Amino acid sequence: MVDMFYLTTLLERGIRQYLRWDYQLFPNLLVLGNTGSGKSYALRILLARIVHQIPDSRLWVCDFKNELLPQSAPRYWGYKAVMDGFNAFCEVFDDRLQGNPDRTFCLLLMDEYVSWLSSMEKRETEEVKKRMAQLLFMVRSMNMHVCLGTQRGLAENFTYGSRDCLSVLFLGAPSKESVRSFATGEEAEAIKPRGRGEGFALFDGRPPKAITVPTIRDMERVQELIIHGASR
Ligand SMILES: Nc1ncnc2c1ncn2[C@@H]1O[C@H](COP(=O)(O)OP(=O)(O)OP(=O)(O)O)[C@@H](O)[C@H]1O
Ligand SMILES: [Mg+2]
Repeated sequence: MVDMFYLTTLLERGIRQYLRWDYQLFPNLLVLGNTGSGKSYALRILLARIVHQIPDSRLWVCDFKNELLPQSAPRYWGYKAVMDGFNAFCEVFDDRLQGNPDRTFCLLLMDEYVSWLSSMEKRETEEVKKRMAQLLFMVRSMNMHVCLGTQRGLAENFTYGSRDCLSVLFLGAPSKESVRSFATGEEAEAIKPRGRGEGFALFDGRPPKAITVPTIRDMERVQELIIHGASR
């Protein structure tokens, strides 16, 4: 379990309690929100917490906008290199599928996933969607995990029903269309527009929970942790 973000209802009563990510039960995450809603900021916090709290955890960081880290790291890929990072993670997955017994925690972080998809030729986009669907369906038993950040989350970007393999963190005021791609009617009603760094967590079968992303006191430390996780 990883401490993620504060539970808003408790925070309003002065209690700092975290929503915890049970990554064995909910292997993959999608952080969805309009521009400026604080997705990349929240993703940095999440990555740093993973590195801090899960021993030997390793990160594959794909950052299409090239803005998450101030410097490079062996498993950090920006802009045009994102495909290399995606392929590198898929190789580890293939290797485990073929019998490598290593089950240490691995996470693929892909910020701006849909923007990256739309930067490709159509055929390539379809191929990536297919491979991503395979990852989303199968990584759990290998203790591998995928976390995607995106402004738009329409179901068509998650083919073969793979959207059901994602737990969603909605931040700010995502479009109704995006919310309805992941939430049922009743859930979607409960997911109200909120401000920057605020939103709702939707884990399968549970009512949406209001969350508040903390403010980072020491950004350098957060970035150091991510670099460590993308290097070790
Ligand atoms: N929880 C927070 N506390 C304080 N500042 C925040 C918080 N979340 C975001 N910010 C600030 O708000 C701005 C926008 O955040 P961020 O870049 O994470 O948004 P985004 O959703 O990734 O936007 P885009 O889709 O354009 O990439 C940044 O300057 C960031 O530092
Ligand atoms: Mg961003």
